[in-house]
Amino acid sequence: MAYNPNQPVVIFKDNVERTPGQEALRSNIMAAKVLGATVRTTLGPRGMDKMLVAKGSDDIVITNDGATILHELAVEHPGAKLVVEVAETQDDECGDGTTTAVVMIGSLMEQAEKLIDTGVHPSIIAKGYNLGMNKALEILDSLAIDVTPQDKPMLLQIAKTAMTGKSIENIMDQACEVIVDAVSTVAVEKDGKMEINEDDILVKTKRADSMTAELVKGVLIDKVRPDSLMPKKIDGVRAAFLSGPLEITKTQAKSKIKIQSADMLSAFSEAERARLKGMADAFAEAGVNLVLCTKGIADPVQYYLAAQGIYALEFVAEKDCKYAAKATGGQMINKPEDLSEDVIGTAGKLEMDEELEMTFISECKDPKAVTILLRGSAQHLVDELERAVEDAKRVVQDVIEDGSYTIGGASVETELALRLREYAQTVGGRVQLAIEGYAKAFEIIPKTLAENSGFDTVDKVIDLRQAHATGNKYAGLDVFTGKVVDMKEAGVVEPKRVKRQAIQSSSETSIILIRIDDMMVSKGAGQM
Ligand SMILES: Nc1ncnc2c1ncn2[C@@H]1O[C@H](COP(=O)(O)OP(=O)(O)OP(=O)(O)O)[C@@H](O)[C@H]1O
Ligand SMILES: [Mg+2]
Repeated sequence: MAYNPNQPVVIFKDNVERTPGQEALRSNIMAAKVLGATVRTTLGPRGMDKMLVAKGSDDIVITNDGATILHELAVEHPGAKLVVEVAETQDDECGDGTTTAVVMIGSLMEQAEKLIDTGVHPSIIAKGYNLGMNKALEILDSLAIDVTPQDKPMLLQIAKTAMTGKSIENIMDQACEVIVDAVSTVAVEKDGKMEINEDDILVKTKRADSMTAELVKGVLIDKVRPDSLMPKKIDGVRAAFLSGPLEITKTQAKSKIKIQSADMLSAFSEAERARLKGMADAFAEAGVNLVLCTKGIADPVQYYLAAQGIYALEFVAEKDCKYAAKATGGQMINKPEDLSEDVIGTAGKLEMDEELEMTFISECKDPKAVTILLRGSAQHLVDELERAVEDAKRVVQDVIEDGSYTIGGASVETELALRLREYAQTVGGRVQLAIEGYAKAFEIIPKTLAENSGFDTVDKVIDLRQAHATGNKYAGLDVFTGKVVDMKEAGVVEPKRVKRQAIQSSSETSIILIRIDDMMVSKGAGQM
């Protein structure tokens, strides 16, 4: 067909909304700056909290956790979505540093905007940022300090730094002890490296009069004995874990009658009774005194178990049952006939807590799974405590696994800004300008920490710069006094992994955003 210049050429479907060139970049810069500014006020121990209310629901979340805030915001802008992804990845990989990562993207994009305004081409900026990132990661390595899994005081300090500033200060010391103990318990050495499976630490919460954190070297099940004949307490637990039911399924054995006496029992047919009794006897004969079953346990079986001093729980969540098996060194089985010494788990003791409606299975020998029980008076406090514990648990894990940490209080960022500026001078040309912009972006961290603590931002950034220029590489801002102090001595310490991930992902995402010169959104795929 011949080309007709009067006929418009249709390339995109008419439902594609296009934002071309500079406009796309400006729109992404704006999005990153807005998100950075949104979470900025929460950075650091003196950061503020945000109150979030999900539309159409009564759920209130009060938090200063960056990942949580962004998650609740349901961001629509495509560039902003990338920023939210950075926070989510940061959370997945490190469990901390989400606010830092997002604030850094906002700052990197703000510096990029300034560079564009002075006529530096986006591709030069991208190049400078890439060089800057590689150098920054190198400098970070040189600032990191080694630590062993046995260095408990340091691990406590790392947990404490992650928890400072969350609104649960009064039980922080208690919680930190519990966290370090929990993570150290489940850490295993594999091929000369420490490994921790984060699923081996279960965090459970309960509403109670006061706030407490407690480590149970074992498991908690949100159920109590169904039959008052069963013991309340057992020393020397031998446990069986069942995935099949303890009942006769074909017949009417799912009786509604509560069996309370031997007389009532005789109403059951002999054969049925023998079978049901046989189920309970199998456990007694194997010396089992605790049965956790993910399905139902028929009333007569409960009765026979109770009569033999066996504590049994039915309809235990499969996850809890597997977890209990792991913690006690047992294994799940399908039916009583599968019982053997190998599948029986052991624990020091079992206790039933009627008030909490929970069964504690604790004092497991060499447990491979543990539980942290958090109690708090109001739901939002328990929730924030849980988030803080999750963060602290993860940072202790990061540090044990990697064997290295860095110093906080903006000391790393100030040192990076200084050394990156020196590096920029060795590069020269227009790329030098881009690396200088990249270096400057790091100063958002000291600036924000100062701002959130009510100190003059310009003064503090200058004081910090000076301290670092004279060789105090650990100098940071004491957010409570406003003084520039040695943060290593002050014990403000963080995993290297948190910084590394924040630097890398904020830089890489900024580079991606800078290189975009066209945004096409097909309608229905999310609005701009
Ligand atoms: N006692 C302290 N004095 C000075 N700075 C501190 C202190 N404790 C922590 N910081 C600094 O606060 C920053 C961390 O703040 P915050 O925990 O609010 O954000 P984040 O870790 O980036 O994100 P989030 O915890 O929400 O995932 C780090 O730069 C850290 O060095
Ligand atoms: Mg944090």
